[in-house]
Amino acid sequence: MKIGILKETKANENRVAITPQVASQLIKSGFEVQIETGAGLASAFEDKVYEAAGIKTADKATIMSWAQVVAKVNPFTLDEVGMMKQGQICFSLMFHLVNTELVNALAAKGVSAFSMDAIPRISRAQSMDVLSSQSNLAGYKAVLLGAMHLTKIFPLMMTAAGTITPSKVVIFGVGVAGLQAIATAKRLGAVVEATDVRTETKEQAMSLGAKFIEVKDDGVKAEGGYAKDVSEEYQRKQKEAVEASLKQADLVITTALIPGKKAPLLISEDQVKMMKYGSVIVDMAAEQGGNCALTQADQVIEKYGVKIVGVTNLPSTMATNASELYAKNLSTFLQHLATKDGFKWELEEEITKGTLITHDGKVLRS
Ligand code: NAI
Repeated sequence: MKIGILKETKANENRVAITPQVASQLIKSGFEVQIETGAGLASAFEDKVYEAAGIKTADKATIMSWAQVVAKVNPFTLDEVGMMKQGQICFSLMFHLVNTELVNALAAKGVSAFSMDAIPRISRAQSMDVLSSQSNLAGYKAVLLGAMHLTKIFPLMMTAAGTITPSKVVIFGVGVAGLQAIATAKRLGAVVEATDVRTETKEQAMSLGAKFIEVKDDGVKAEGGYAKDVSEEYQRKQKEAVEASLKQADLVITTALIPGKKAPLLISEDQVKMMKYGSVIVDMAAEQGGNCALTQADQVIEKYGVKIVGVTNLPSTMATNASELYAKNLSTFLQHLATKDGFKWELEEEITKGTLITHDGKVLRS
């Protein structure tokens, strides 16, 4: 089977969907792989390294007409869909719940599209889960970014000139990114508190050394690993519960997302006003509207003495590792669905069913 990898075209995207190492493993398993010239450069994978591993480099048009399977990281552009052939199979993050125009174009073109962000949250799919692999890295980087913007250090330091008290970090959302953020902030020596609407996260946060901020409510049960919207009553109780922690925080990291919806608003303008002068908020939900009312995507703003950092694509800032993990996820997923001789098309199988967005000219999930 012929797999073609495209270069990313989205602004500020440094990742690539396949690394030389993963491509060479696919070749050993009997697949053929070509990659668009220069696709790996921003992730520090030079063309010559792909070529040494037996992967040809070519221009986009050549790859599109040669490949049976085309893959990239970000959603295909409508121009790329225009270059696709009927019956071709494509893989990328698609965010199909919000990218209706793309999904319709893929169906109209008669291609089968697998959405990498729709992998079901079940144990056997963990090794294919791109959202988790990328969020994990993002959680780490969010802490470093926060540390860069702070005028303080994280750890307790006893020096001849006096004792420096540790920074206080508060993390909203104890999912994959939040757990990594807790671990990273703890490793750097901060005092960490965390909260999440899913009550089962209390034990996980505590096991990493964070204090859990309890909201006096039953919380919500996750559906398929994802939190749902919370009630106004819960929001009110959450606001009360976090108030003392927000007032003392040096760094706040927000990670809360609801798939296919605007991110929940967790920090209002009034709450920002309460925070200490010089404190920092890193809002990891900036692309989905932000967890803080004042967040602006891709900008650092300062209001009431608080710096609010709206980050959108943190994995791209660690493109080498992010690409390594994405490529592993993609290769595992591909080999779950297909052998070198072709796709199995087990349409009722849970992972196939969850991720196959268009097939046979039809939209299967929207
Ligand atoms: P996410 O990125 O969708 O959300 C981040 C966190 O924000 C979640 O923990 C969520 O509960 C929390 N959140 C949402 N609304 C909130 C609110 N109003 N207030 C406070 N917190 C709020 O979630 P993520 O990190 O991708 O995964 C969540 C969980 O799903 C993981 O911790 C894990 O247990 C499970 N999971 C399972 C997988 C598998 O089995 N294959 C793969 C990935 C995740």
